Amino acid sequence: MPPLAAAAAEMLVLCSNDYLGYAGLPWPSECRAASGAGASRLVSGTHEAHLVAEREIASWLGVEATLLFSSGYAANVGAVTALARPGDVVVSDALNHASLIDGCRLSGARIEVVRHLDTEAVEQALLRGASARRRWVVTESLFSMDGDTPDLRRLRELCDAHDAALVVDEAHALGICGPRGTGLCAEMGVRPDVLVGTLGKSLGLHGAFVAGSSTLRTYLWNRARSFVFSTGISPKVALAAVDRVRRAAADDAGRARVAAAARQLRSGLRAMGAPLLPGSAGPILPWILESAGAAVEMSKRLAHEGVLVQAIRPPTVPAGTSRLRITASALLSEADVDRALAAFRRAVR
Ligand SMILES: Cc1ncc(COP(=O)(O)O)c(C=O)c1O
Repeated sequence: MPPLAAAAAEMLVLCSNDYLGYAGLPWPSECRAASGAGASRLVSGTHEAHLVAEREIASWLGVEATLLFSSGYAANVGAVTALARPGDVVVSDALNHASLIDGCRLSGARIEVVRHLDTEAVEQALLRGASARRRWVVTESLFSMDGDTPDLRRLRELCDAHDAALVVDEAHALGICGPRGTGLCAEMGVRPDVLVGTLGKSLGLHGAFVAGSSTLRTYLWNRARSFVFSTGISPKVALAAVDRVRRAAADDAGRARVAAAARQLRSGLRAMGAPLLPGSAGPILPWILESAGAAVEMSKRLAHEGVLVQAIRPPTVPAGTSRLRITASALLSEADVDRALAAFRRAVR
């Protein structure tokens, strides 16, 4: 085992995306699917398990269809490059995940990077793109590093008013937000044109999917290069995803536990004067430190106390905003959070 994994096994982990604590679960006992797809899905790599999982996720989210990808990175790059083209305008939040940024860049479309969460700026960019072939607004629902949320209803209104399509990456919201864990769009009553979700965060596996209309699925099947030119996701993982989706849909207790751990952490950290990003809510608690060095030093001190919180530095986050990205999980008991808070207090001293 590499040193970090060995250490993490002994430590209290407060920086994973395993919000519901499913990553450590064994394979479901009835998971009898092939281990490998054997080829691209378009060749001989489509197994019954893929189709079952795609239908299960579609029914969970209340969409017509979904398409599995081998990772969230591949899903975002594949979807955005397949959909947006030269002559289009893509309006992209300044803090979008690298996979969305790379998708925008590879698409050849004109990119309008707008200030984080600034819907006014989105509107201006859409107006500037009025004569473009197509307009796309691309955002995360729960931002991975800042733990905040755009006004999804306003973005939907703007897209409708300006004949634009809304692409929402729900990687961090699925499983923990919305009715039956169906995400922030569902919670806000917003229907994106393209929804991206991952299997590697709350669902505790790896892989991802794009959800939307049947036409979208067919289009991506044929045009998303990270799907077409890549071996299909393991059928075993796909079948396990069916179990994880059912489990997550029913897991209100897990969601309540994540929320309780997040509340306890947030109030304990605020009480010790930690400068948490004011807009953050839910399970992601960004503690902004002055410099990358300060973030690394805090992370080292916490590790010494048996608490794993990695320092997040540029280029993952903008210069001057290095941070500890602290995350809550259903695996943390009240006593664990107390122990973590005590470690934070000693590390600050
Ligand atoms: C918002 C967001 N989208 C996509 C991804 C990529 O997902 P994956 O790890 O499955 O490639 C991540 C992962 O960190 C993410 O935070």
